[in-house]
Amino acid sequence: MSDILETIFKRRSIRSFTDQPVPREMLVDLLKAAMAAPSAANHRPWEFVVLTEPQIVADLKDVLPYAKFNAPAVIVVSGRPEQGYTESGGNYWVQDCSAAIENMLIAAVGMGLGTVWTGIYPIQTRVADVRRVLGIPETAVPLAAVLVGYPAEAKPARTQYNEARVHWEQY
Ligand SMILES: Cc1cc2nc3c(=O)[nH]c(=O)nc-3n(C[C@H](O)[C@H](O)[C@H](O)COP(=O)(O)O)c2cc1C
Repeated sequence: MSDILETIFKRRSIRSFTDQPVPREMLVDLLKAAMAAPSAANHRPWEFVVLTEPQIVADLKDVLPYAKFNAPAVIVVSGRPEQGYTESGGNYWVQDCSAAIENMLIAAVGMGLGTVWTGIYPIQTRVADVRRVLGIPETAVPLAAVLVGYPAEAKPARTQYNEARVHWEQY
């Protein structure tokens, strides 16, 4: 099995973290992984808010009901729809930002870090709350908060491969 495939299978949602802070250089490496993602017409309509101050992390967790885990760092990924590639009235910003998020999650595994993707958009109350807490302007839509830290739990690697969901040539 290739190293990258092994890393992809090892990526699991980690919801328990040690107190060890994540060095800034590692957070920057995660952001580099994010910004290496594919995006429609390479428009890269993303913005990242990186949180390491415990009070700000706590303020964010207050408004995210399913993100109440003890990660020392959080990266909030927002999209800017007007910057995204629009074709026939459709806009790809969600896909672009999701690709960036997944790149971060996989890169984190290779760095010995744990992550969990916690959802914000399209829950409008959560979008408004996160905008208020982090000062995100109306032109940007917070899509997800990625919690980052050193894992305090271990989960088995797995593929979830399901042949029944695969259709060769025709659905
Ligand atoms: C769009 C999206 C939103 C998610 N939101 C949350 C969340 O709010 N809280 C949480 O604990 N996990 C969240 N997750 C993580 C999923 O629960 C998790 O990926 C899934 O159960 C599979 O487990 P695994 O990540 O270990 O493979 C989210 C994942 C995605 C893709």
